[in-house]
Amino acid sequence: MFELSRRLEFSAAHRLHNPAFSDARNRELYGVCNNPHGHGHNYVLDVTVRGPADADTGMVMDLNRLAVLLDELIFQEVDHRHLDHDVAWLSGRVSTAENVVAAMWERIAPRLDGLLYRMRLWESRHNFVDYLGPDAS
Ligand code: NI
Repeated sequence: MFELSRRLEFSAAHRLHNPAFSDARNRELYGVCNNPHGHGHNYVLDVTVRGPADADTGMVMDLNRLAVLLDELIFQEVDHRHLDHDVAWLSGRVSTAENVVAAMWERIAPRLDGLLYRMRLWESRHNFVDYLGPDAS
């Protein structure tokens, strides 16, 4: 078994705010991440596929194909955007790293023939979240 990864970097703005909560509750819950006009991150997304190497090609999958998919389905949509206002498939969710990476999984997984294993979204050098998909325990 092999795990093969491709890294994508993008810059985006967001604000953590749940409209179902009061302003006071939002400030308490999200702190400075609730500042009204948002803030930015240099995000890093590590996408890992897992599987055997094909006997003929010697590859788990063509990483160039993965790179093109990530560019079209994610990078072009989110880079230099405000995640809460500019990205239709993120609207209606609080843009925590957990929710953002899960939405990205939903876009990419159907195109990867069951090979997608993990998506790791770094929000900063110190904070990242790993997502193993909706069916992982
Ligand atoms: Ni943030």
